Formats: sequence, C-alpha cells, structure tokens
Amino acid sequence: MTKIRIGIMGCANIAKRMVIPAIKNLPNEFELSAISSRTSEKALKFSKFFNSQPIVGYDNLLDRGDIDAIYMPLPTGLHQEWISNALDSGKHVIVEKSFSLNYSSAQRLIELAKSKGLLLMENFMFKYHKQHQLVWRYLQNEHIGSLRLFRSQFGFPPLDSSNFRYDPKMGGGALLDAGAYSIMASRWFLGCDQKVLNSVLFIDPDRKVDIYGNVTLQSNNGIISQLSFGFDNFYQCNYEFWGAKGRIRVEKAFTPKPNEVTQIVIEKQENKTTTNISPDNHFENIFKEFHRSIIEKNHELHYKDILSQSKTLNEIREKALKIQL
Ligand SMILES: NC(=O)c1ccc[n+]([C@@H]2O[C@H](COP(=O)([O-])OP(=O)(O)OC[C@H]3O[C@@H](n4cnc5c(N)ncnc54)[C@H](OP(=O)(O)O)[C@@H]3O)[C@@H](O)[C@H]2O)c1
Repeated sequence: MTKIRIGIMGCANIAKRMVIPAIKNLPNEFELSAISSRTSEKALKFSKFFNSQPIVGYDNLLDRGDIDAIYMPLPTGLHQEWISNALDSGKHVIVEKSFSLNYSSAQRLIELAKSKGLLLMENFMFKYHKQHQLVWRYLQNEHIGSLRLFRSQFGFPPLDSSNFRYDPKMGGGALLDAGAYSIMASRWFLGCDQKVLNSVLFIDPDRKVDIYGNVTLQSNNGIISQLSFGFDNFYQCNYEFWGAKGRIRVEKAFTPKPNEVTQIVIEKQENKTTTNISPDNHFENIFKEFHRSIIEKNHELHYKDILSQSKTLNEIREKALKIQL
C-alpha cells in the first residue's frame, strides 16, 4: 500500500488527544513526517511526545518536498489562507471543521483543489463511527415507521475566555463549532439540499459571536430537523429520529472516545431496547478514508460535501434572527 507522508499544521489540543495518535495507529497508510507550530517550544514538545520532527512556522512545513498531505487543526478563520497555501505547495489537505468562514471562500478553495487535482476533506469524523451504520439500517428497514422529526443537540458549558471560539476573526461562535455537527448529521441522514426554515442566534454583544442557537431545516420530502447548539449549555451530544411507530436515540452521537461503548435506544409502544455498540475509533476510520480517497483519486464526493455544508451554514447565518444577550 502507498504510504502518505503527512505533516501536522498547528499543535492543537484535538491533534494531541485524538488525531496524531490515530495517524500513528495507521502505519500502513501514513508516515508522520513532521509537526509544525508557530512557536519552537510547542513544535519541540509535540515532536518529542510523538517522536516526530519539529518545524517552526507553517510555511516551512509547506516548503518541504517530502510531504504529501497536511492535517490542519487551525481555527476556521485561518483556513482560507493556509488551505490555499497548502494546495499551492501541492499538498492534499484534511482540515478541521468548520471548513470556511463563508460559502464563497469554500467555493474558491474547492476550485483551487480541483485545478490542482488535490483532495480536500473536512474532518467530520463522527460519520465514520459504526454506531451510525446501525441507525442507517434501522431507517432503511423503517424500523420506527415513517419519519416525523429529526432532533439533535450539541452543546457544552463555557470555555476558557481566551479560547479562539470567542473570536469572530478566527471564525468563532457556536454555529460553526458545535452547531456544524448537528447540521451535518441532518444533511447526512435526510439529504444535503435542505431548506433553512428559520434560525436564531444568540449573540454575545462584547465578543460579537453567537453563544448558542437553534435551527430548523426541512428536507426535500418535508421532514423537519430541530437543531440546537451552544457554548453556555448543559452538556448534550445526541440525535434522535421520531417515527410513526417509535423513536431511535443516539446518546453520544458526535464525540465518543476510541475506547467508549455507545448506546442506541429504540423505544416502541410495546418495548424499549438498548443496543451497546462496541468501541470504534472514528478518527482512524476517517483517516483511512482520507488515505483511500487520495490513492483512488476520489475527490468529487468530498468537494460536494464541503460545498453543501458550507452553503447551508451560510444560509443559516443569513436568515438568522440575531438576539443580543
Ligand atoms: N473533529 C473533532 O472532533 C474536533 C474536536 C475539537 C476541535 N476540533 C476543531 O479543531 C480545531 C482546533 O481545535 P482545538 O480545540 O484543538 O484548538 P486549539 O488547541 O486552540 O488549537 C488550535 C491551534 O491552531 C493554531 N493557531 C494558529 N493561529 C492561531 C490563533 N490565532 N489562535 C489560536 N490558535 C491558533 C495553534 O497552533 P500553534 O500554536 O502550534 O501554531 C493552536 O494550537 C478547530 O477547528 C476545532 O473546531 C475538531
């Protein structure tokens, strides 16, 4: 199998906790070539920890001719600049969500990737966890009858005040962060060309970012999705389908840890069953897909996914009733 030589752009928390360990667990697919940071201190610390090569400055990472692909866990506000630079240097990119600040930026980046024959993928790893395959099977078998409603909530208590998620220039705000998961889930299950019926974003007047919000989407065949998200909320990370004959609920929908057993609960008139799903590492799974898609030049599907998610997020922001807190 052809190994992809991958470089890490930014010593992010998510890279340390989940993504670099996943990459290192895939020695047939990836060689971890180098880890870059804006500061030498972080580059050295991460590289020592992961037994890799430190590079100071993202440009110096891109200048390397012996790297095929970049994992980019930078804040969304930096994606336009650094994805564009990475593509110009001939590298495939898997980037953290949300992909871009707006739809036109996503369009420009996809056009650039297309023109260079390079892959761009957004790291929505949750879709690669096997628990959702069971949900897909239940839906296809009409296990809970015809669908009436999709509902999803993803939110958590306040973050440290210095977090980039509170900075509008960095693409902060709950919609592009937590909200993007529920929106992706709705689009994935119910179709990507959904109508935005309404949205409400609650804005912090000092930081000028949305702290929590709600969105209603409608699929082509009329099914409604009620989606709620936030940074100042009691922790929730779920989705559920309500059907004519029952309900399917996934409790830990988006962030199960690699060693975590998850549960799918089905309620019907006559019974309630809970299915335990054995641990699955969705980070490893999405990186296998990234590898496969580079090797097989399967780019188009990922381009389309990025564009339609980004278009929906744009529409949500444009239609939003913005309430100052
Ligand atoms: N897929 C998932 O499960 C998941 C989970 C959590 C987060 N994420 C996404 O991953 C990305 C990173 O999130 P995180 O929580 O890991 O954040 P983080 O620890 O703050 O990491 C962000 C990194 O970006 C780099 N950076 C460059 N310019 C920056 C600036 N002006 N402000 C802040 N950071 C800057 C920094 O790396 P250097 O200082 O080393 O250059 C920093 O370590 C976000 O896009 C987030 O949405 C994804």
